[in-house]
Amino acid sequence: MSSKPSKPYSTFSTLYNEIMQDVPYQRWASYIFHTFDEAGIGTEDPVLEMAAGTGLLTEKIAPRYPNWIASDISREMVLQNRAAGKIQTDMENLPFADGVFSAAVTAHDSVNYLASLEKFSAHLSEVARILKPAGIYIFDVTTIRNVKQNFHNKEIREKYGNVELIWNNDYNPETRIIESELLFVTPDDVKRELHVQMVYTIKEIEILLRKHGLRIIRKDADYMRGNPAAFARLLVFVVQKKG
Ligand SMILES: C[S@@+](CC[C@H](N)C(=O)[O-])C[C@H]1O[C@@H](n2cnc3c(N)ncnc32)[C@H](O)[C@@H]1O
Repeated sequence: MSSKPSKPYSTFSTLYNEIMQDVPYQRWASYIFHTFDEAGIGTEDPVLEMAAGTGLLTEKIAPRYPNWIASDISREMVLQNRAAGKIQTDMENLPFADGVFSAAVTAHDSVNYLASLEKFSAHLSEVARILKPAGIYIFDVTTIRNVKQNFHNKEIREKYGNVELIWNNDYNPETRIIESELLFVTPDDVKRELHVQMVYTIKEIEILLRKHGLRIIRKDADYMRGNPAAFARLLVFVVQKKG
């Protein structure tokens, strides 16, 4: 087995779409359309998607927004994304001028990859900077319940063609850090990735949003309005920059 881990998502990118085939991206897209329409975001407005991955959500949304830009830190994930506008970039340090986007989106517990409050704060500072006044940001975070129920101390084994994915997760309740080791095993090779995420409390999120001048407009569960938060896997925040 190769002991040195590869970069997160370098191998995962090749299987990502297959692994995520049951994720309800169409419902997430409908939620985002509805929310943008209500906020007066027009279809010609520029929108930035961060941590867009292979573009499973992008491809549901971008056709309606020609000025949609999909971005991700992983070169391998960006290469898989078929969006017309795409860029490799870190959501903590965005290569855009101030006030250029009407809206921004980061989906699928991607902000939890910012595994400290300092990193999350740097990200929100960047989002507030690149948004126009009254611009909208939609993001989701994983819930502690989701982590405990579906990941903590769990080994997930799945077969994709000739690749066996062995996925071990460990959650530390003291630090709220989730460490995941992913092994991609083929008859003649083993690739290994380590992923580190952090679970934030709602209080922590609220404090940081306030610090960066982002006002919460709505909080929902799993991209469904009126869904009870107590059972959520993902908490969705819709926030607005000061006008
Ligand atoms: C669970 S995937 C979600 C991808 C996509 N949003 C989706 O819904 O399928 C998490 C993504 O976050 C990206 N990511 C992690 N840290 C990042 C960072 N600092 N800046 C930008 N992207 C990041 C990863 O490369 C990966 O593509």
